[in-house]
Amino acid sequence: MQTHNGRSGNLYCPEMMTIKTLIEESHDTVTFELEFQDEALRKNFSFKPGNFVFVGAFGYGESALTIASGATKKNLMDVTFRKIGRVTGGLGCLNQGDSVGFRGPYGNRFPMEEYKGKNLIFIAGGIGLPAVTSVLFDCLEDRENYGDITVLYGARSTKDIIYRHHIAEWEARSDINMVKTVDPWGTADDWDGKVGLLPVVLEEINPSSENTFVIMCGPPIMIKFAMQSLDKLGFKEDQVYLTVENKMKCGLGKCGRCNIGDIYICKEGPVYTATRMKQMYPDF
Ligand SMILES: Cc1cc2nc3c(=O)[nH]c(=O)nc-3n(C[C@H](O)[C@H](O)[C@H](O)COP(=O)(O)OP(=O)(O)OC[C@H]3O[C@@H](n4cnc5c(N)ncnc54)[C@H](O)[C@@H]3O)c2cc1C
Ligand code: FES
Repeated sequence: MQTHNGRSGNLYCPEMMTIKTLIEESHDTVTFELEFQDEALRKNFSFKPGNFVFVGAFGYGESALTIASGATKKNLMDVTFRKIGRVTGGLGCLNQGDSVGFRGPYGNRFPMEEYKGKNLIFIAGGIGLPAVTSVLFDCLEDRENYGDITVLYGARSTKDIIYRHHIAEWEARSDINMVKTVDPWGTADDWDGKVGLLPVVLEEINPSSENTFVIMCGPPIMIKFAMQSLDKLGFKEDQVYLTVENKMKCGLGKCGRCNIGDIYICKEGPVYTATRMKQMYPDF
């Protein structure tokens, strides 16, 4: 069951969710574990890895956020957001037990069926990590159906690292190659990861491009240099999947905030191959 038709028939009418758990991931980033207040939605809501939703703080507005938990997680759904402005700042003032508005799921999805039997490299910079974790969580539910899994996560500094609890679990597993790095000016004495810009570390770990897909999200500058590194490593553009976070308002193909020409990212995207990204953005 999806919610985007709105129970009242109004496409913009949000459902209500409760913040069951609130995790302060870092100085500016928070995770909500959300639960539908409506029992039928709690049981039957479904989504696909890569879908996004709108989460609203009453009196502030609503923000597009990627669902960060796996599609197989029952009853509860995670979203992680960086407090950068009006709405995310408003969401950041809420507490466990408070209500939020919810619309979705929207957008396309990662092609999980194509990834079966392949090696996967997850590349994420900063707040890009939650945008790829729903794919990772679903792969881990079904681990034997995938080849090698590498997670390369980069943050500006140790204080910007999020998902420390998940990263510790992934590091403890022998079937995930977890590599974390911080920028050279962002390290600290107790840091046990690599120090270096993510594209440099990507070349250092030198993954094979054979039978491999890359799933990537991060700031545009990271994507630009990571693409150059992947090219050097022999990856073709159609082996690389990205999810883009253009500004959005409605999620419904109606407001014209997200479009590039006649392409509405909220409807066609936000998941694209690098090949398609190049067609859409000449500077990509
Ligand atoms: C499909 C999709 C998925 C997303 N998933 C996540 C997620 O999982 N976690 C998360 O933290 N964020 C995510 N975002 C970005 C998030 O929607 C915005 O950060 C948020 O809506 C900003 O709202 P605000 O009112 O807090 O900021 P505003 O007050 O509107 O803006 C504050 C500052 O941030 C800039 N800004 C606002 N929106 C964006 C944006 N989309 N991209 C770049 N800069 C922006 C503004 O230009 C301004 O400088 C996603 C966006 C999209 C479209
Ligand atoms: S967000 Fe309104 S048209 Fe895409």
